[in-house]
Amino acid sequence: MVQLSDIDFYNPDTFVDAVPYDVFKQLRREDPVHWNPQKEGTGFWVVTRYDDVIATSVDYKSFASGHGVFVDDSVGGSELMMVNMDAPKHTGLRNLISQGFTPKMIRRMEPHVRDITTKIIDSIAQKGECDLVTEVAAELPLQVIAELIGIPQADRHQIFEWSNQMIAVGDPEYSPTMEVATKAAAEVFEYAGTLTADRRENPKDDLVSVLLDAEVNGEKLEDMEFNFFFILLIVAGNETTRNLISGGTLALMENPDQRRRLIDDPTLMPSAIEEMLRWVTPIMYFRRTATADTQINGQQIKAGDKVTLWYGSANRDETHFPDPDRFDVGRTPNAHVAFGGGGPHFCLGASLARLEGRVMFEELLRRLPDIELNGPVSRLRSYFINGIKHIPVKYTPVER
Ligand code: HEM
Repeated sequence: MVQLSDIDFYNPDTFVDAVPYDVFKQLRREDPVHWNPQKEGTGFWVVTRYDDVIATSVDYKSFASGHGVFVDDSVGGSELMMVNMDAPKHTGLRNLISQGFTPKMIRRMEPHVRDITTKIIDSIAQKGECDLVTEVAAELPLQVIAELIGIPQADRHQIFEWSNQMIAVGDPEYSPTMEVATKAAAEVFEYAGTLTADRRENPKDDLVSVLLDAEVNGEKLEDMEFNFFFILLIVAGNETTRNLISGGTLALMENPDQRRRLIDDPTLMPSAIEEMLRWVTPIMYFRRTATADTQINGQQIKAGDKVTLWYGSANRDETHFPDPDRFDVGRTPNAHVAFGGGGPHFCLGASLARLEGRVMFEELLRRLPDIELNGPVSRLRSYFINGIKHIPVKYTPVER
């Protein structure tokens, strides 16, 4: 049992070895709407129960996104990014971009996603060992989002590096300082500018061209609005699905009975993907800000208070998920909140992420069924993304 006042959810070291699920369990039981003070900063509420995460997400009038979605106001806090907006501006942008993400459009992408996945596995199949994160898990979302946006594939590793640097300030490998992250953002802006200039001359069938052409509430997107859209899409499309695949593979390697069950009965794949989403919860939290004095589960909240919603804790809430610390590829029902607790900001890429996950695990388990750990796993140092940077694996080599 830990002293709850000793835990700081703003400190990345709290998550560096593992997500502290035992602490979340204690919070759900003893202090489900918990105050986390800060030496420098206003402090914030930590919401850990499933029902409270849902109620707060859905009540977007009392709990706004427009003051930022991270604890720290200065990080990624641009008011020009859709995730940091409230209605009506948010609604206009969301309607615009969702045209590219309808379930029908995503279904149409399946053959292409499978083709990309096959080539990724081909590239490591004969080696018998690889880094599952950099060579497999990161590659699929990166290639898919590059293509959707209209980024040439040759530039994708540069995009991967910038995206890592922007999200992982404080991780010694990716982005040790804020300066590195700021420089990466400036370089992305410049890159987006060049891409835009090109598409103005030569429109193509990609998101950049659609966004350039589009109007929101009768107005075209301004350059900076466009640039922030670009950042949001590369980060949201990259840093999340990668960790679904990495963390999902790790869960299968650590639970060989569940892997066997899935190989023997591939019809379990959709429920297995939902279980991986619940189990991993790649985005650990987002923040809201109270717009008026209110309450959550009886706890008084003052206007202006920051409220953080811990999706990974909600996804282990024993009142909604029986035996929550068991990884069960057949778990049904499984109404996890890995994509958010509902409301206007619910993940736009959910169908795409599910598709990528399903196709990747179908191919991975078919071709490398005996994949196993071959060295220490290295975790991302972050209080926002539940990330893995490297997983050395080995397997029986197979033909391309
Ligand atoms: C496993 C993969 C993914 C996870 C776990 C995930 C999770 C989330 C979460 C928790 C939110 C915030 C929900 C809220 O505040 O209520 C979100 C929003 C968003 N996601 Fe995802 N996401 C994933 C993949 C993707 C992909 C592949 C894309 C796009 C290509 C994407 C695009 C977005 C966008 C644009 C938003 C902001 C939506 C808004 O503000 O209206 N996500 N995602």
